[in-house]
Amino acid sequence: MNITEPGINEYIKNILPKDDDILSEMEDYASRNGFPIIGPLVGPFLRQLARITNAEKIFEMGSGYGYSAYWFAGGMKEGGKIICTEGSDDNARRGMEYLKRGKYDSMVDFHVGDALEIIERFDGPFDIILNDINKEDYPRAFDLAIMRLRPGGVFITDNVLWSGRVLDENPDAATAAILEFNKKLFNSDGIISSIIPIRDGLGMAVKI
Ligand code: DHB
Ligand code: MG
Repeated sequence: MNITEPGINEYIKNILPKDDDILSEMEDYASRNGFPIIGPLVGPFLRQLARITNAEKIFEMGSGYGYSAYWFAGGMKEGGKIICTEGSDDNARRGMEYLKRGKYDSMVDFHVGDALEIIERFDGPFDIILNDINKEDYPRAFDLAIMRLRPGGVFITDNVLWSGRVLDENPDAATAAILEFNKKLFNSDGIISSIIPIRDGLGMAVKI
């Protein structure tokens, strides 16, 4: 199931400027390899968030090869820091190469391993935490992230509508975890939450 009309997505993609060759290369790599990047519909929104929150410290749970970090970095001021986490060493290395070519490498640290373990090594507080890890781990990611946000900080989660599978009558394990996550998103104290139905659904919580 499409969350939004494909023609509308195409329309938005086509009016976006294609002025960054490195982003275009990263998008080409995703289409050639079937890699699920957040894509050009979500990227500009992340960049806006970085600027709106005046982000100095961002933590990414699940960075892939740096596509979302690249968008965030462009919205941060000099001296901003992004901590990236990724299970695959190859993806992390590829990500650092793209970020270096974009002159963002001094802003980014890549940690290879389990994002849930890595985030425990950091107290924060962070201005933004992005969650895009294995869907089964979403409920556990929620608590670990929210406690590390500053007041006014934003927790943003990819795939909360999961191509419409949140409507399934017999949800599989990944879908069930997303459903549990979405309940936490809207039933936890100390945050203001919404779901933004762009691409595959972005969950957003602002810490009070
Ligand atoms: C898929 C999409 C994602 O954005 C992701 O993080 C993981 C998987 C998918 O479509 O399978
Ligand atoms: Mg995703």
